[in-house]
Amino acid sequence: MTIIVTGGAGFIGANFIFYMMEHHPEDRIVCLDKLTYAGNFSTLAPVMGKENFRFVRADICDREAVHALFEEERPDIVVNFAAESHVDRSIEDPGVFLRTNILGTQTLMDACRAFGVARYHQVSTDEVYGDLPLDRPDLFFTEQTPIHTSSPYSASKASADLLVLAYHRTYGLPVTISRCSNNYGPYHFPEKLIPLMIANCLADKPLPVYGEGLNVRDWLYVEDHCRAIDLILRRGRVGEVYNIGGHNEMRNIDIVRLICRELGKPESLITYVADRKGHDMRYAIDPAKIHSELGWLPQTKFADGIRKTIAWYLDNREWWETILSGEYQDYYERMYGNR
Ligand code: NAD
Ligand code: DAU
Repeated sequence: MTIIVTGGAGFIGANFIFYMMEHHPEDRIVCLDKLTYAGNFSTLAPVMGKENFRFVRADICDREAVHALFEEERPDIVVNFAAESHVDRSIEDPGVFLRTNILGTQTLMDACRAFGVARYHQVSTDEVYGDLPLDRPDLFFTEQTPIHTSSPYSASKASADLLVLAYHRTYGLPVTISRCSNNYGPYHFPEKLIPLMIANCLADKPLPVYGEGLNVRDWLYVEDHCRAIDLILRRGRVGEVYNIGGHNEMRNIDIVRLICRELGKPESLITYVADRKGHDMRYAIDPAKIHSELGWLPQTKFADGIRKTIAWYLDNREWWETILSGEYQDYYERMYGNR
């Protein structure tokens, strides 16, 4: 099979490529990525020389480039990870989120229709469901939970999901959608909570916790997400949405304290800063459907996953220090300078 993986130079896409090349060496993987600030070509170094891997730099919104690639590769499957993915950036400047996340999805699906692709998989997020209250721990997001978005990012992802389902119903495009909770692990871009706190801890810099740090996220080790997508591609039902999450809810402040402990740094580094606008309180996935239909369960316990992740950041300083030394500095100053 030939599988086009878009956004494969980003955090989850790269982990997915490594996972697929290890578990399905018979398949050919073609990575299509624009290499935005979040894409990192060096991440893909371990697979660049492999015969069954190809990297193409292109924008998923570029109809001509996308169609030319489909013409050449005749893919069996397309998995779309490409997106603008950071909520804070979407609050700063929503335009590119709408373009990439919605119109990019449309461009890819049009190509899938034109070339009779057997499966289009949309990598979506639990953020499309909005948030849950802290005082109702009995509530979880199921696939039936209504779409109810908070940020320009989540609204763009929800729009894309609706478009994907519309292409299925209207044109019969064979689609699947997965909606996953917060991922963590190697190659996580240092603007996101866990890698940002690791990097700041290691530099003895303040640890900027939004609001009171009581917001809850449902953390999943990235490899477990990759395995879930692989299962959906092979055995998932066309036209269906699958929630992915591991019943691993944690408050932000507890994550930050844990990182301090693991790195032997004082909690006095923690600095409470102005809250994110429209900040979602709690995300919590009910993964019953993917468990009962596909037998998926997360395999990595948080205590192990976070240690592996911290060890990875300690062993791969060059990867993230290069990012921190570039244009990311301007972003950090804009986001946290006067907060
Ligand atoms: P990321 O920001 O780390 O990577 C995004 C990748 O997409 C980058 O390589 C970037 O260069 C590429 N890209 C961006 N715009 C592009 C365009 N126009 N054309 C081609 N490539 C483009 O994101 P991530 O955290 O790896 O997330 C991947 C996907 O998973 C996204 O769709 C995101 O919404 C979804 N998701 C993420 C999480 C999470 O916790 N990170 C959880 C659930 C779902
Ligand atoms: O739930 C899935 C989503 O998880 C994905 O769809 C998004 O692409 C991904 O970025 C992530 O979104 P979050 O907004 O939950 O992740 P982030 O790492 O930005 O923030 C996690 C929590 O930590 C959130 O409550 C905000 C808080 N936070 C974040 C940063 C960067 C802080 O308190 N301080 C910070 O400096």
